[in-house]
Amino acid sequence: MENGFSADRVYLIGYMGSGKSTVGKLLAEQLGWNFLDTDEAISELQGKSISTIFEEDGEERFRALEKAFLSFTTELRRQVIATGGGMPTTPENLSTILNSGITIFLDCDSDTLGKRISESIDRPLHQQPTNQLQASIESNLKSRMSFYIEAHITVENSSSPDLTVQRIIDKL
Ligand code: S3P
Repeated sequence: MENGFSADRVYLIGYMGSGKSTVGKLLAEQLGWNFLDTDEAISELQGKSISTIFEEDGEERFRALEKAFLSFTTELRRQVIATGGGMPTTPENLSTILNSGITIFLDCDSDTLGKRISESIDRPLHQQPTNQLQASIESNLKSRMSFYIEAHITVENSSSPDLTVQRIIDKL
C-alpha cells in the first residue's frame, strides 16, 4: 500500500452482481476497517427488503432513501462502503461519492453479472424472464458505464474476490 492512502472511506461501486459486498467485507478485514452495505442498512432502517420497498413505495422513494443514506455515510470514518448499483448513477450522488472517499469500480463482464443476478432473489430491477435478462443487463450497463468509469480506481472482479482485494490494496 502506498503511503499516500489517507482517506477515511472507500466506496465500492458497480453493477448488481459485481461483488461489491463480498469484496467490501474482505477489503475491510484487510484494512482493519468497518464494512457497510448501503442496501442492507436501508433495508434494516425501513424494516423491509429492497424488493418490498420498490413494490410498496416505488423506485423514486428508494432513490430518495438511497441519497439520504449516502449523505449519512460521508460522516463515517475508517469505513468500506458497498453501494447499491444505482447509487452512483446520478451526477449529484456520483460527485458526493467521489468527493467523500476513494472510489473503486468493480468491473465485471456482463455474462458473469447475468449468472450472478439470475441466482439471486432480491433484485427488483431484474425480474425479467431468463431469456430477456442478459439484454436488459447489457442495456442498463451501457447507460451506467459513464458514471462507473469516473471512479478513482477500476478493478476487474470476474474471478477471485481475494485477488481483487489484493489488486485494490496494491493500488491504494
Ligand atoms: C439497484 C441495485 C441493488 C439495489 C436495488 C437497485 C440498481 O443493489 O440497490 O435493487 O439500481 O442497480 P446491488 O447493486 O447491491 O444489488
